[in-house]
Amino acid sequence: MSAPRKLHIKSYGCQMNVYDAQRMVDTLAPEGFVETASADDADLVILNTCHIREKASEKVFSELGRLRVMKEDAAREGHDVRIAVAGCVAQAEGAEIMRRAPTVDVVVGPQSYHNLPQLLEQAAREGRALDTEFPVEDKFKFLKAPSNRAIRARGVSSFVTVQEGCDKFCTFCVVPYTRGAEASRPVEHIAEEVRRLADNGVREITLIGQNVNAYHGEGPDGRVWSLGRLAHHLAAIPGIVRLRYSTSHPRDMDDSLIEAHRDLPALMPFVHLPVQSGSDRILAAMNRRHRADDYRRIIARFRDACPDIAFSSDFIVGFPGETETDFAATLALVGEIGYASAYSFKYSPRPGTPAADMGDAVPPAVMDERLARLQHLIDSQQAAFNAAMVGRTVDVLFERPARNPGQIVGRTPYLQPLHVMASPDIVGQVLPVAVMRHESYSLFGDIVAATPPPARVATAQPQPATGA
Ligand code: SAH
Ligand code: SF4
Ligand code: F3S
Repeated sequence: MSAPRKLHIKSYGCQMNVYDAQRMVDTLAPEGFVETASADDADLVILNTCHIREKASEKVFSELGRLRVMKEDAAREGHDVRIAVAGCVAQAEGAEIMRRAPTVDVVVGPQSYHNLPQLLEQAAREGRALDTEFPVEDKFKFLKAPSNRAIRARGVSSFVTVQEGCDKFCTFCVVPYTRGAEASRPVEHIAEEVRRLADNGVREITLIGQNVNAYHGEGPDGRVWSLGRLAHHLAAIPGIVRLRYSTSHPRDMDDSLIEAHRDLPALMPFVHLPVQSGSDRILAAMNRRHRADDYRRIIARFRDACPDIAFSSDFIVGFPGETETDFAATLALVGEIGYASAYSFKYSPRPGTPAADMGDAVPPAVMDERLARLQHLIDSQQAAFNAAMVGRTVDVLFERPARNPGQIVGRTPYLQPLHVMASPDIVGQVLPVAVMRHESYSLFGDIVAATPPPARVATAQPQPATGA
């Protein structure tokens, strides 16, 4: 048998790219590839790229410059290194990459990476290979399952893609073009994957999709199931103690998901629900197809169903035509909702999207200034949210030993990292922790019970007010 070949994958962008990278590793394992943490000793380097903002895309070409030098050095020593570009830049600019970067052997898009083994063979035979098709067959049918060892090495929390693609066409966004049309995996495929993960020690599943709450997969009864119904089904799988989902769109929010937050202790009370802007004028220009008040009403419904729920969001500042009044509406909305955390980005014009041709650009200095103001507000809300945890008892899923000796790190229901002094035996358990203090983004506490509580008991602590 030949020596294993080493594979290094570098992923940029969203959680789905993290998931896809693992599936690429799994799919190449039967071909004799083992994953390596460094590009330097790899036989195959895959850049799993993101196209969402200009900065993200630019990284690919600078990284390819470095890899070219590495590949040429290796070739002089008789070591043949292959370079592949996957992900959303591959999908959007595959031909351009082939033209500009002769060092690249394989280009493969997000819907066709199940073909990687064949594409590598084709590149070996013909020099290079490109596949950016949106095939009619479902890639999930062809991807190889991870080995039990691989699952155990990846830890107690895992992503599982349940839905992919987007039909929303927000005017700023490349995702509908790079990931293709919205599609959902059948319930039983997902459940089978989750059972396998749970059997190998995974305790928390984050269901992912570009529009995860648009999920409409075929259920075992032949009917279309919603995300709420899927969550109930997956929560019943032995070993699964926590469920999350990301990213939701306000337009797709339905009662079954909101009610699942009331009825399902395993469904964590923390929802990433991007609103992008607080101005109805800008929301319309973005083609978000909801108003700020629709968003407020959704948040209120969640809070009615699950009083201790917390939210995060994404914001874009400096969308074409955004005035100070529009921006003030965003600040006002953030002030009203009170986020546990949030991401904010400067608008980045993306080739081929309608907003890129809108004109009326916001000057860079204004964008910088608005971003700073928004981030300041979000940071203060996050700090207040974290500070309000001190003195409470929260359930923590312990994930791994921390960098500091003797400490184990886990996550609260709100994804805050929390450290305790404890034995590594607690990894994989949910234990109640008295939160003693916080430092920037981390919490520190003491475990309050020596024995694990029943796995699916949720905290019933009231949610502190976090509005700024
Ligand atoms: N599907 C998710 C978001 C996917 S992209 C949703 O609908 O909310 C993640 C975030 O990147 C978006 O929420 C948005 O805030 C940001 N983003 C997307 N395109 C952008 C662009 N052209 N410029 C700046 N930020 C952008
Ligand atoms: Fe992009 Fe909008 Fe689709 Fe989200 S909903 S992926 S922001 S087009
Ligand atoms: Fe980026 Fe594609 Fe995800 S553009 S954010 S990697 S869907």
